[in-house]
Amino acid sequence: MNEPPRVPEGGFAAWSRDRLGLARRGADECGDVWQLEPGVYVAATAGPCEEVLCRAQDFTKVPSPLFPPLKRSSGGPTPEERVHSHVARMRGLRPQAVAARIGEIATGTARFADQWPTGQDVEILPLVRRALEEVGTRYLFSEDAPALLPFASQLFLAREVLARPSRWVWPRWIPTPARRFRTRQQVAFTNALRPIVHRRRSSGRLGDDVLGQMLRPSSRYGLLQEEAILDALPGITVATFETPSRAAGWIMLHLARYPQAAGRVAAEAALLPADPAATTSTHLDSLRYTQALVREVLRLHPPSWLLTRSATRQTQLADYTIEAGSTVLVCPYTAQRDAREHSEPDRFQPERWLDDSGSPAKPGVFLSFGTGPHGCEGAALAMAMLTLLTAQTARCYHLSEPLEPEPSYRLTTFGGLATAGLRLRATLRG
Ligand code: HEM
Repeated sequence: MNEPPRVPEGGFAAWSRDRLGLARRGADECGDVWQLEPGVYVAATAGPCEEVLCRAQDFTKVPSPLFPPLKRSSGGPTPEERVHSHVARMRGLRPQAVAARIGEIATGTARFADQWPTGQDVEILPLVRRALEEVGTRYLFSEDAPALLPFASQLFLAREVLARPSRWVWPRWIPTPARRFRTRQQVAFTNALRPIVHRRRSSGRLGDDVLGQMLRPSSRYGLLQEEAILDALPGITVATFETPSRAAGWIMLHLARYPQAAGRVAAEAALLPADPAATTSTHLDSLRYTQALVREVLRLHPPSWLLTRSATRQTQLADYTIEAGSTVLVCPYTAQRDAREHSEPDRFQPERWLDDSGSPAKPGVFLSFGTGPHGCEGAALAMAMLTLLTAQTARCYHLSEPLEPEPSYRLTTFGGLATAGLRLRATLRG
């Protein structure tokens, strides 16, 4: 009989006080897999993290309570509909599709830099979120985006309310005020989207955006049912800007704290066309250092720092026996700060992602977008948005933190690793 995984000192009580701190201590003191409490394990290093994410039959993703399918007479989407919906939207989200729309994305991200009020300390996350909300919604719905944007903001708000830490975990079926608010916003978004779907289908002008891809029949699955489209899009819409905004907060903070790195990004960005609409994937590919910087920030501060899986059967993980029904938490945060994978793992060093020829291809564990069958669908879009936003911002401004003894943000770990309340000052780069 194997020994069970070890429990770090302080156990669950310490976790409730400081989740990130205990995650680090668990990895340092207890190794690759540790135990938080009976039936709850944490995969802390690269090997077990990848194993859990890739063995999706043994470790299933717990269905997201974020925007569950609305009640309808035919029931929720079938497993086949889910696969079809995933395949259809990936036609619009895969790297080639993103590469074809860099000019549009760059136009949206440039607006963020243009609108940043200079010479004063500004709370930055709401500004960056509004800019990325527009970029993301436009990426999904093109010219129909303005009609959906106000509803997208409300969906985000519903998500924020739901993610607030609460003392009680209510059973899924209890309609708490936060859940009722979520459902109202989901219904409002769906009601705004439905006529757009009807119009596009009846006119035959399906569009070249992600919605257009979902409306096209596939040779394998045929036509995707309208309800499956309407069920999937609230979650995808919020995903296009929510996590990228958190990542952008961390990136802006690093531009402020590492002026030399910011200068190098600005030098690269000087080669971008003056008109952002003229930006192409070739320009994006040439921003090698900027891409490395984005990747390095995501390595150190993965917004999705803890992913949840459930063991479907008794199974082995890194020499430990995991009982059926156990929860396994996958921790990219500690996996990406492991000295066996990255030298000086706590040091901010974008160069580590550049090999000698300057391409950001150096192998190394990187789980910020997850991996396996549930890996991030929007990784290419997110990297394009964040790289352009970073380059355009550094090209225009020096960033600095407020001259105050207190930190310029609060670290939050619920609903994503984020720099809540982050304030920064932009001064025009000479
Ligand atoms: C910096 C930005 C982003 C980060 C760090 C990020 C991270 C992640 C991670 C770690 C997962 C895996 C979750 C798991 O395995 O449980 C994931 C899944 C997902 N992401 Fe992202 N994401 C980002 C941006 C985006 C964008 C722009 C989209 C837009 C479509 C998106 C859509 C999704 C979807 C739909 C899934 C679920 C995939 C599935 O369950 O099969 N993400 N993301």
